[in-house]
Amino acid sequence: MNSDDFYTGDSEYDDDYHIQKNRHKAQQKRNTKRAKQQTPQSIEEVADVSGLEGGFTTTYQPARFEGQWLRESLRAFYDQHLISDILAQIKGGKEASVYRCAANPATGFSLLAAKVYRPKMFRNLRNDAMYQQGREVLTPDGRPVKKTDHRLMRALGKRTSFGDQVKHTSWLMHEYTTLERLYQAGAAVPQPFATSENAILMSYHGDEFAAAPTLQEVRLDPDEAEPLFHETLRNIELMLQHQMIHGDLSAYNILYWEGQLTLIDFPQVVNSHTNRDAYAIFQRDVKRVHQYFAPYGIESDPVVLADDLWERYVGFEEEAPLELAELDE
Ligand SMILES: Nc1ncnc2c1ncn2[C@@H]1O[C@H](COP(=O)(O)OP(=O)(O)OP(=O)(O)O)[C@@H](O)[C@H]1O
Ligand SMILES: [Mg+2]
Repeated sequence: MNSDDFYTGDSEYDDDYHIQKNRHKAQQKRNTKRAKQQTPQSIEEVADVSGLEGGFTTTYQPARFEGQWLRESLRAFYDQHLISDILAQIKGGKEASVYRCAANPATGFSLLAAKVYRPKMFRNLRNDAMYQQGREVLTPDGRPVKKTDHRLMRALGKRTSFGDQVKHTSWLMHEYTTLERLYQAGAAVPQPFATSENAILMSYHGDEFAAAPTLQEVRLDPDEAEPLFHETLRNIELMLQHQMIHGDLSAYNILYWEGQLTLIDFPQVVNSHTNRDAYAIFQRDVKRVHQYFAPYGIESDPVVLADDLWERYVGFEEEAPLELAELDE
């Protein structure tokens, strides 16, 4: 029996029937529209992507919607014989997911971490403009886009998919080149190994069962807090010496493992000399670190601390009075 079998010929019922039928049609139209709007996600969801094809089988069984993306993003590391397996997802974040991978012994490690950026259409970039401002746009080989490259410059000004891809790559390459520079400078950051279009391969912190927790998740011994606070400051200072500000530093972006800290998560890194909000962003980083350590009895004035470091490595302009941007605490 289909819905038209309800047709009775009785006008009162028929009116109801037609109203309902129209309502049903309208609802169907709305559903189709909604389905169309969700197309990008749906394509990934319906694609059969369980397991990774072409000999790249993995212990970790990705959810269907992440499989294809994961395969495409990590394939290059597999082909370069850097990793041989994806063992587990460590964390699925807003902007990226991080996976524990079996490393090729030639790397000198048994495990490596792969940070896979979400497809650009799903990414909710953190206050993009504030961080991008005053810093260069980086190409896939980590070089700044030249002002004379009109094609790229034009793309950046537009919300086209090519323009978005250029920004997406730049965001990832800022994280990668920052890791390279900081690792070489002796900072406590993961050792970077390689990048692909959507992923970064770096040293893994933790063991075969669990990744290192963030500082936020651990309770420090009373006698550990002070040395770890100073270690965090050493890294903040080292970054500033290299004209870099983390930009999202807090106990959520510092890993703790066997008494050692590792600073992570650098895509939003800010140039201390060229970003006009640099000082405010810097001060916020220092304040958040202070907030974490203060309950352990670490006494310090974060504003004095920030001012002192700023004076030493950047310098305040005498004429222009400081105008702190309205940043959320
Ligand atoms: N090198 C690493 N070794 C071990 N675990 C790591 C490593 N890098 C990142 N992680 C884990 O992955 C999580 C997310 O990493 P990261 O902060 O770089 O990404 P994110 O996109 O900012 O995620 P979130 O939105 O959760 O902050 C970290 O909190 C940590 O648990
Ligand atoms: Mg993070």
